[in-house]
Amino acid sequence: MIKEFSNTEILNFRHLAAERAVDFVNSGMIVGLGSGPTAKIVIETIGKRIITGILSDIIGIPTSKESEREALRNGLMLSTLNDNPRIDLTIDGADEVDLDLNLIKGGRGALFREKIIADSSAEVIIVVDETKLSHSLGKLCPVPVEVYPMAIRSAGEFVRELGAMVTLREDKEGKVFKTEQGNNILDCRFGPIENPHELAQKLSMKPGIIEYGLFLNMANIIIVGGKEGIRHLKR
Ligand code: A5P
Repeated sequence: MIKEFSNTEILNFRHLAAERAVDFVNSGMIVGLGSGPTAKIVIETIGKRIITGILSDIIGIPTSKESEREALRNGLMLSTLNDNPRIDLTIDGADEVDLDLNLIKGGRGALFREKIIADSSAEVIIVVDETKLSHSLGKLCPVPVEVYPMAIRSAGEFVRELGAMVTLREDKEGKVFKTEQGNNILDCRFGPIENPHELAQKLSMKPGIIEYGLFLNMANIIIVGGKEGIRHLKR
């Protein structure tokens, strides 16, 4: 497949979209901080606006150790969901976005905390470049399914019976990937998913499956960076 955009162009799209997303952050807000390279740009942008005095009194709630480190490096104050159970706004990336603003997330393995934080947020803004837009979820990427290690084979069999090609995720060194909760991830390639809600319901019924990367009815705004500039997709 020929790639339509270079990596530099894609990075540029994400940069512009991430900066636009940070315009939604106001001083005094409790902000959920996503994980992954796009979320890193968001955190850096918030940090810059704090240093220049545009923003103040921001409290960040991170979705991973990585986003926690990034936030501290950029001078953000941090808290926990237990101390601040009502988050004003979460900004995160996504791996795939459909026309109903449903998402696949978890490409970096942080889906468990990302979903809890998104669910606890008054507003969720997702930042993507236009290559992540799709007519049917599952067309572009697999659905990550986080599984308790003792259930990896039974859960794998279950997802296979639902029609997916299943791969146990490995890290860069070829070792079995572990999430921050110590679980494994099955990358489940369904192809275009006709009914994501039905699939989500089935996955949530299976003991041993801790979480899955379908984020349905969670995003309020998608900010898309692309060759025509920035677009906002809203519910
Ligand atoms: C992290 O687990 C994911 O959900 C990310 O949000 C997702 O992989 C998006 O990553 P990018 O930052 O590469 O867009």
